[in-house]
Amino acid sequence: MTIKIKRPRGTRDFTPEDMHRRNFVRKQIEPVFKRYNYQEILFPTIEDVHLFEIKSGGEIKEHMYVFEDKGKRKICLRPEATASVCRMFVDKLNDMKKPLKLYYFCPMFRYERPQKGRYREFWHMGIELIGSSSYESDAEVIEIAYKSLKNIGLNFDLEIGHLGILRGLMSELGMDDKIQNRVISYMDKNDMKRLRDIIKNKIILNLIKLKGGKEILGKAEKLLENYKNAFNSLMELKEILNYLDIEGIDYKINFGVGRGLEYYTGMVFEIRIDALGSESQICGGGRYDNLIELLGGQPTPATGFAFGFDRIMNALEIQGIDIPDRYIDLIIAPVNKEVKKNAIEIASKLRERFIVDMDIMDRKLGKILEYGNEINAKFALIIGSDDLSRNRVTLRNMRSGEQKKILITELIDKIDRELNLNKELHK
Ligand code: HAM
Repeated sequence: MTIKIKRPRGTRDFTPEDMHRRNFVRKQIEPVFKRYNYQEILFPTIEDVHLFEIKSGGEIKEHMYVFEDKGKRKICLRPEATASVCRMFVDKLNDMKKPLKLYYFCPMFRYERPQKGRYREFWHMGIELIGSSSYESDAEVIEIAYKSLKNIGLNFDLEIGHLGILRGLMSELGMDDKIQNRVISYMDKNDMKRLRDIIKNKIILNLIKLKGGKEILGKAEKLLENYKNAFNSLMELKEILNYLDIEGIDYKINFGVGRGLEYYTGMVFEIRIDALGSESQICGGGRYDNLIELLGGQPTPATGFAFGFDRIMNALEIQGIDIPDRYIDLIIAPVNKEVKKNAIEIASKLRERFIVDMDIMDRKLGKILEYGNEINAKFALIIGSDDLSRNRVTLRNMRSGEQKKILITELIDKIDRELNLNKELHK
């Protein structure tokens, strides 16, 4: 008896074609991170569940995969990276020079109801900048998110808010942390009804409705003129925005940006692509100055963001942004059994430099060329007895059908040249 086993709900298989596309996009974004001197890190897929109970917030906790291991420890699959990065920082990176600039690309797990753009296993590609509280560091992380997405050709909306303003105001109005977190969580869900139920204060309601260009800063200043902490945070936001203006970054200010995680203390931002529908948010981030201390470290400011990599992939498709097909350089076609030994030697030499496939099924030349077409080979190298006796082989351009004889001693140089000449053909 055989049983057909299904993938767990909300997970996906990635075919070679999918992986080609995903790797292509990853490789467009990663150099941007690297050019700002961010270095890659990795941390475990499983963590002690308490790591996310400290400050990540109710919503994430509800969606965690939690289990007890054989040693009766409560373990979870990581739902996000920031808490892991902070744990790792406290464990082993504390002594490194600050600011510390880190990035990661790895899967996260949330037990949510799956739909297009919302998965139970999905990838975060994110950065964390640890050890600086300057406005430049906040501006830098926004700039990196913006430039990475522009680099892959996406159109998107960037909205920037500041929870230091709102938290400052709420503290000055005597609202405790618990209520503040609820307010921010309702804001994140755009739940105006619940917001109005718990906020009676007009200033807060008016503030979180403010959205627009820099012209709204004046209005915010008026609202906050009697609230020193909130006002100071507003001035900080202004500095961040001035920096972004120098960089020519297009943004909207939105004092209602809430975020679904509780550790944010300052600037927050989100990037959306409305055409993605209900799962339109492709990036979220902000400043979290208390998390490292809460996890047992020295008080250390930090800021960062994570892309929802899978949503970026969906967005590229929706916006019709082309990802070049995968090509291989050569398919080697030995025309009979006698030339096989030579073909193996030639393939092995060429593989030091090129992406090379070779017939390993004893197919006839016509079939090998068909296969070569299917796997997107740019050239075929036909190896026949006649040619070999004159120390040469035949190079066939798979696109044009044009064939050239080349001396075996000149193979690498000649193939290199042909590949270069035909670069444009395979874009
Ligand atoms: P987050 O907003 O919860 O932030 O997640 C970041 C991004 O992951 C979201 O904007 C969204 O694009 C994507 N995402 C979230 N849930 C799913 C899902 N179920 N399926 C597909 N994509 C999803 C964080 O996790 C913070 N750690 C970001 C951060 C880093 N803040 C500071 N540093």
